[in-house]
Amino acid sequence: MFKGQTIWITGASSGIGEALAYEFAEAGASLVLSARRQAELERVKAACVGKGLPGADVLVLPLDVTDEAQVTAAAKAAKDFRGHIDMLINNAGISQRSLCVDTDMATYRRLFEVDVFGQIALTKSVLPVMLEQGRGHMVVTASVAGKIGVRQRTGYCAAKHAMMGFFDALRAEVANQGVKVTTITPGFIRTNIATHALKGDGSEFGKVDKNIAGGMDVSKCAKAIMRGLEKGKKEIPVGEGAEMKALWVKRFFPNTLFRMVEKMG
Ligand SMILES: NC(=O)c1ccc[n+]([C@@H]2O[C@H](COP(=O)([O-])OP(=O)(O)OC[C@H]3O[C@@H](n4cnc5c(N)ncnc54)[C@H](OP(=O)(O)O)[C@@H]3O)[C@@H](O)[C@H]2O)c1
Repeated sequence: MFKGQTIWITGASSGIGEALAYEFAEAGASLVLSARRQAELERVKAACVGKGLPGADVLVLPLDVTDEAQVTAAAKAAKDFRGHIDMLINNAGISQRSLCVDTDMATYRRLFEVDVFGQIALTKSVLPVMLEQGRGHMVVTASVAGKIGVRQRTGYCAAKHAMMGFFDALRAEVANQGVKVTTITPGFIRTNIATHALKGDGSEFGKVDKNIAGGMDVSKCAKAIMRGLEKGKKEIPVGEGAEMKALWVKRFFPNTLFRMVEKMG
């Protein structure tokens, strides 16, 4: 169903974004791949070509989502590539590994610049294109952390909760104008997210932690997301650990959930 569609994926140089690029390549979509590291995007493009997608169907579009001028220019380049943008997957993101008491305000601001304002800026630059087309699909990789607050993630959980609110509200605004909105809420997925997470002083955590190391395989995660997108789901929970059950506990027994997370290390 995605053949011939133009799909723009941010955070495509690694992890979930990279794995999604391979799924869409196999589905015959035209791809716009964005992240900051151009060499990694070229590697992903080569792998997409290896899966049978013609090189001309992949645009490598390096982008720092926190730079508004870059975002505006990239939105124009993405539209000019095929003349339409059918789906934007706001997937770029960074996490956090620090207690509130140890976290600098600059680190909170950085988390929000990447995980919130970067996604809003990009969505705002693509929304007029989709409204003019009378069709389109806005997607965001939020998180279970967008529904549940856990230790060492005050900034990350706040950012992901913000994204859930933003995209749920946007869905209500554009539902009658042909634009669909999907929020993805992954649990622990085996990617580089912990390695690049910010410590309190803004430096990188630099290692994989137990939860991520034991998380879902990223390719399996991407396949599950594809199934959800094909069905036009408004929300796609994806993961296979206890954190997915926690979503249900939070919904029906919030106090039990709060006690559970207080006990977590
Ligand atoms: N892995 C999990 O357990 C998990 C769970 C829930 C939600 N998520 C969310 O899933 C998304 C993808 O993360 P991942 O797990 O795949 O981690 P990842 O492997 O670290 O990928 C993060 C991606 O974001 C890009 N990125 C970071 N800062 C950027 C910026 N300023 N501008 C543009 N691109 C930027 C990175 O590329 P460059 O470094 O090349 O810019 C990279 O491609 C994130 O939004 C994350 O919060 C992950």
